[in-house]
Amino acid sequence: MNYARVIGTGSYLPQKILTNTELVEMVDTTEEWIESRTGIRERRIAASDERTSDLAEHASRRALDIAGITPQELDLIVVATTTPDHVFPSVACLLQDRLGIHNGGPAFDVQAVCAGFVYAIDVANRFFRTGASQKALVVGAETFSRIINWTDRNTCILFGDGAGAVVLEAAPEPGIISTHLHADGKYHELLNVPAGVSANYEQVLKGEAYTQMQGSEVFKWAVKALGDIVDETLAANNLGKSDIDWLIPHQANIRIINATAKKLSMAMDQVIVTVDRHGNTSAASIPLAFDEAVRDGRIQRGQTVIMEGFGGGFTWGSILLKY
Ligand code: COA
Repeated sequence: MNYARVIGTGSYLPQKILTNTELVEMVDTTEEWIESRTGIRERRIAASDERTSDLAEHASRRALDIAGITPQELDLIVVATTTPDHVFPSVACLLQDRLGIHNGGPAFDVQAVCAGFVYAIDVANRFFRTGASQKALVVGAETFSRIINWTDRNTCILFGDGAGAVVLEAAPEPGIISTHLHADGKYHELLNVPAGVSANYEQVLKGEAYTQMQGSEVFKWAVKALGDIVDETLAANNLGKSDIDWLIPHQANIRIINATAKKLSMAMDQVIVTVDRHGNTSAASIPLAFDEAVRDGRIQRGQTVIMEGFGGGFTWGSILLKY
């Protein structure tokens, strides 16, 4: 059986920075409230003509550069996104075309909101384990700013746009050691955009398909689910907390990140944090943080990394990998 290993990472952030100072001019909030409750100081916002596929393409090209392979060598593209350019085709197909791959392998999107990247890696990993893929591109890309009500202080302070990508290659040893996914649709009303193609389409037409959230309920659930998934991941691999070199959490709120780090008995200098500068970029947050820490030399070859994500649905999961 083949394993998958990471041979390249890349990421991309739109140029426009939206600071807490600017948000104070837009909604009834304070810089102190946002930073102390969330850890966020600023986030990036895509330009009006910049689409999720654009962000995905930039991140992907950077990951392919590091991997040292051409797009034509890819036999699988999986994009995690909740903010695709179109209803269809998928961002993955648009990306495949942009990369100049024709008559290629499968390309499709995975939608699991902020757990999307974890889900996408799990799916891609299964292609490797069965021998169906030798080289794959897995991307998390979002223009979440498009589904935010910029007059709702409960949500608009939290989210941002961006993309991150990894290139995976078949290898005789992991690589990706294990993946763990969960969902519980009972909680769909706590965090959602309650409009789409087959429900409340008129809200979409009016440009009012917005994220709504019961923040403190989501917070409690996220802390519990992420603590449990860490336990599950360690137990499944017969590992102790000290076997983990790095935690790359979904970047939703520094207080949620702190709680998971505490659960793992990890010092914060073993935790990759970007939430202060990126906000919550949904499916892009984990690969963005991963790429940053690989490029600045913190994460080294041979080290053991746990990634964990939580999102609307609810969906949650983890990835254990040796970089
Ligand atoms: N500025 C000032 N006050 C705000 C505010 C803002 N931007 N947003 C909410 N408030 C107010 C609320 O209206 C509430 O006021 P009230 O007590 O008069 O009703 C008060 O602050 C406290 O709200 P609460 O929801 O209890 O705050 P909190 O400490 O839970 O922090 C979140 C709010 C949203 C930051 C936090 O709950 C959170 O991060 N939740 C998880 C969100 C998340 O990660 N979602 C994505 C998951 S992938």
